[in-house]
Amino acid sequence: MKTLTVGLQERAYAIQIGGGLLDRAGELIAAVSAPAMAVVLTDDHVWALYGKRLETALGDLPHRVLVLPHGEQTKCVDQYARCLSFCAESGLSRGDLLLAFGGGVIGDLAGFVAATYMRGVRFVQIPTTLLAQVDSAVGGKTAIDLPEGKNLVGAFHQPSLVIADTDLLQSLPPREQAGGMAEVIKYGALFDATFFELLEAHPTWEAATPLLDEIVYRCCDLKRQVVEQDERDNGARQLLNFGHTYGHAIEAIGGYSAYVHGEGVALGMVLAAKVGIFQNITPIGTDDRLESLCDSFGLPMTERFAAEALNAHLALDKKRDKQTLRLVLLRNIGESFLHAVTLEEAYALTEEIVHAD
Ligand SMILES: NC(=O)c1ccc[n+]([C@@H]2O[C@H](COP(=O)([O-])OP(=O)(O)OC[C@H]3O[C@@H](n4cnc5c(N)ncnc54)[C@H](O)[C@@H]3O)[C@@H](O)[C@H]2O)c1
Ligand SMILES: [Zn+2]
Repeated sequence: MKTLTVGLQERAYAIQIGGGLLDRAGELIAAVSAPAMAVVLTDDHVWALYGKRLETALGDLPHRVLVLPHGEQTKCVDQYARCLSFCAESGLSRGDLLLAFGGGVIGDLAGFVAATYMRGVRFVQIPTTLLAQVDSAVGGKTAIDLPEGKNLVGAFHQPSLVIADTDLLQSLPPREQAGGMAEVIKYGALFDATFFELLEAHPTWEAATPLLDEIVYRCCDLKRQVVEQDERDNGARQLLNFGHTYGHAIEAIGGYSAYVHGEGVALGMVLAAKVGIFQNITPIGTDDRLESLCDSFGLPMTERFAAEALNAHLALDKKRDKQTLRLVLLRNIGESFLHAVTLEEAYALTEEIVHAD
């Protein structure tokens, strides 16, 4: 087991990473809090696979479980209200604990329930997808979606503990494994050339499996450093959006069903590298390096998009500050910075890179 501490003063918490940790959940929770009871929020896939093991691990901690449907649609106002009622009916009080047991959907929803129920209760994340272990379970962003857009309602609310059992990742569908790997590759590209090279040396799920503890640890450690600098997302944290400006556009072009998030991010990282290369900032060939690493993890890298379609979605990017877009670019693999451009400049850059391709 590897342990990291996210140092946010009175909101500091540990991230425990390793194979088999699910079976030790009760003991790990008892080490940080002594709740009278717990409410577990989970989804049907995760509960069918791992519910019994979690129940056994919780031992004599009284708990009630709400099994929600899987999928992004669950991050909605109706399910949020249902969770709140479930907490109230269960008699959850401020000294008790909410447990988020699932991927990023459950983590974001349960986190928002924990942030708001009784003005905030403690919660523990047990992330079960690679994306959740390396990204959404760390950093305290919680949210639900509105029909008008994703993540439009939320709060910053840090967990009291994160338990990342890397063994659970083996049962993920291959597309979810690859999608999580896109975020892993993102951390290397942004902050750590040595880590990127480690991935290049183990460029398939099978080859990377023995390194999963190390991979999750390194990603959480990199995200930890960014979150410690910028808990509320006003500066450094925006770097984590590398590949996401075009990635979100690609997800939207696919009607949020053709591509999983990480697939959009993988394609978006290559486009962002091309933007940097076009501007003589990013070394030539960086796009190919990213593309071949993503490709070897099974991400669909042959997709191409029209500049007009990409640009139509850039205007909606949430990092846009009036007429300015903050693109995340690479000075090199492992070195990143924010680059502000006007919307018109961004449109022209998209045209250039798409037409040069
Ligand atoms: N809060 C943040 O900082 C942050 C960051 C990134 C993403 N997110 C959010 O995360 C969400 C996406 O998360 P996700 O990719 O984990 O999706 P998800 O939670 O929908 O999980 C993907 C699928 O895998 C299944 N699954 C989960 N664990 C499994 C396991 N161990 N074995 C087999 N199947 C399993 C789930 O049931 C689901 O069908 C989005 O809503 C996104 O907005 C939040
Ligand atoms: Zn992402």
